Amino acid sequence: MEVSPEEVKNIDKSGILGQMEKFADDLRRGLELSEKVEIGSFRALIVCGMGGSAIAGDVVSDLVSEIPVLVNRDYELPSFVGEEWLLVAISYSGNTEETLSALSQAIKRECSIVCMTSGGLMEKLCERHGLPLIPLPKGYQPRAAFPIMLGALAGLLSGEVPRFAQSVRDSLGELDRYVESLKPHVPLSENPAKLLANELIGKVPIIYGARNMRSVAYRMRTQLNENAKMLAFHHVFPELDHNEIVGLSGGIFEGLKVVVLLDEGYPETIRTRVEAFKELFRDKVPITELVFRGSSEEARTLKAICLGDFASVYAAILRGIDPTPVEAIAFTKKYLKEKLDYLRKIGIS
Ligand code: PA5
Repeated sequence: MEVSPEEVKNIDKSGILGQMEKFADDLRRGLELSEKVEIGSFRALIVCGMGGSAIAGDVVSDLVSEIPVLVNRDYELPSFVGEEWLLVAISYSGNTEETLSALSQAIKRECSIVCMTSGGLMEKLCERHGLPLIPLPKGYQPRAAFPIMLGALAGLLSGEVPRFAQSVRDSLGELDRYVESLKPHVPLSENPAKLLANELIGKVPIIYGARNMRSVAYRMRTQLNENAKMLAFHHVFPELDHNEIVGLSGGIFEGLKVVVLLDEGYPETIRTRVEAFKELFRDKVPITELVFRGSSEEARTLKAICLGDFASVYAAILRGIDPTPVEAIAFTKKYLKEKLDYLRKIGIS
């Protein structure tokens, strides 16, 4: 089914798709924002965040192998994180308790810290402790601020891993052109995001990726969760060949849709595993393969993220659902605050 620009306007009331259309500009903005931050050298990176504020860390961890990169989604900071690490705490709202808890531990340990937020308690902690802050623009959903967060992380790594920041910069033009092909005025037959949304509607998507597409598979899953309010799952090659395929051969296929993310640069090992997977399941479960081409691993990864992001909003529109509100998340945060008030307990709020 077609998704018209008018339908997008009527259903996507807060304009999340409009924010996604600025993907390349926002990446550039993130790169520029981090230029203003002065940091010393470091030997490893840890990104602390949750949900939409953590995923940029996963993408960096997939694409950067020159230094160790960890993503910490918890209240606790691993005990090995110390002086040689750069800790980047990201919370779009600035009020997420897991992230603030890990940040407060990092402050006590005197780690080298940079924060990214649009305000909230994180901004106050930065003022109180004199921490470098990358200010995120207000008015976004956390998950829609992803390109700004990723650009800023790439900028922070430009001393230690200049190759990465450069490759992200080099992909901007290509990304702009790709995003053009995903916009609402491009008809269904020529629009890969609308086509993907149509394939996923009414199904439970299971998204598989490998290497640089691991974070993309997870991003696609969570964007379908939050924007389209759909259940979705993901797993990664080669690990899924050691467990999930046995579960999948158990025979409960109704409603499932497997999406395999294929980077044109996958090595033979992964390509052969995908072939084996298709051999096993071709006649049993519907499989959609998405091939990503581009000038670099960074460009292909980010194109794949754009495709999933746009498809998740089109899936929301097809379901007649506003992609922006995430009531279950808001409820849980409020419940935790009322029952536990954890941040007050640890002396942050
Ligand atoms: O996308 C979302 O809205 C969520 O996944 C949030 O990012 C998550 O709840 C964490 O909140 P924040 O990004 O404000 O730290």
